[in-house]
Amino acid sequence: MADLSTKYMGLELGNPVIVGSSGLTNSADKLKKCEEAGAGAVVLKSIFEEQITGEVSNLVVASGPSYWHSEGVRYVESYGRENAVEGYLNLIREAKNTVSIPVIASIHCVSAGAWTEFAERVEQAGADALELNIFVLPSDPKRDGRSHEQVYLDVAEAVKKDISIPVALKIGFLFSGLAHLARELCRRDIDALVLFNRFARFDFDLDEERLVPAPFTSSPDELLVPLRWISILSGQVDCDLAATTGVHDGAGVVKQILAGASAVQMCSALYQRGVGYVGEVLEEVAAWMDGHGHASISGMKGRMSQEESENPAAYERVQFMKATGTSS
Ligand SMILES: Cc1cc2nc3c(=O)[nH]c(=O)nc-3n(C[C@H](O)[C@H](O)[C@H](O)COP(=O)(O)O)c2cc1C
Repeated sequence: MADLSTKYMGLELGNPVIVGSSGLTNSADKLKKCEEAGAGAVVLKSIFEEQITGEVSNLVVASGPSYWHSEGVRYVESYGRENAVEGYLNLIREAKNTVSIPVIASIHCVSAGAWTEFAERVEQAGADALELNIFVLPSDPKRDGRSHEQVYLDVAEAVKKDISIPVALKIGFLFSGLAHLARELCRRDIDALVLFNRFARFDFDLDEERLVPAPFTSSPDELLVPLRWISILSGQVDCDLAATTGVHDGAGVVKQILAGASAVQMCSALYQRGVGYVGEVLEEVAAWMDGHGHASISGMKGRMSQEESENPAAYERVQFMKATGTSS
């Protein structure tokens, strides 16, 4: 029987399937269900930087400036911050009292600002590791790519100097120098990169001529973007990689491990099929490994990466010359 255990950013996981940060991981009861389904670890729902710093400011703005004395504003701001913060720290403590699989806390941030002190409190509350979900939409034409990338590097440095639990960075792929940035992040002692976050998207409703949210779940073919990059990066960076986006079944998990991931996060498929589906996914992974003579996750990790390939150029091919006999 295949050994599904894996080591991910220093944590020992019984298997590589992690339930990703989402509404599936925002209470101790739900985390218990993840553990019962067989998940190797959980990433808690993120606390957002703006949730900590902006929640009450919005309330103040909505009520009108004359209503709030400046001292009152300061008090209410710090009260709101403590409420959000305490609620999250309690979630970590409850999680640790409820499940025995590793609990990874998550902070969504857009700067290396005041929130970084909160990382220490996450560690003190007992989280086994911290995942930072960073995204700065490069939509400001006055801001160049280097200054965007600097935010990621600053966050990595600020957090790593304050805490000793492992830190992962969950990033998107909208970078002109993705491989360089990944290597620089790992040089700042980041323990893992989680590739790639999938962001909220919008669509146009043509009947109403208005903006509407696009479906929030991924489709299985979205796995191909992280598959390429994990295949390319796994031989080039000195930190662990975890895959997220588009993993909907055991085959998806196997592919990402063969590419070089140490662990795989799932979210959309569990929204669609229920968290209990993790068990089925693990059975598929074990059956594939048995059928293909792979005894352990560590033994198969990276076996199909660019570094291990006899045809590395194929991993960087991006243009179509001919597809099914038709030029495209
Ligand atoms: C409803 C929902 C809520 C999510 N909330 C968070 C979050 O708070 N923090 C985060 O880092 N990712 C969040 N995500 C992103 C997921 O963790 C995951 O990276 C993404 O959905 C891609 O994986 P998938 O294809 O398996 O869904 C959320 C996703 C969904 C669908």
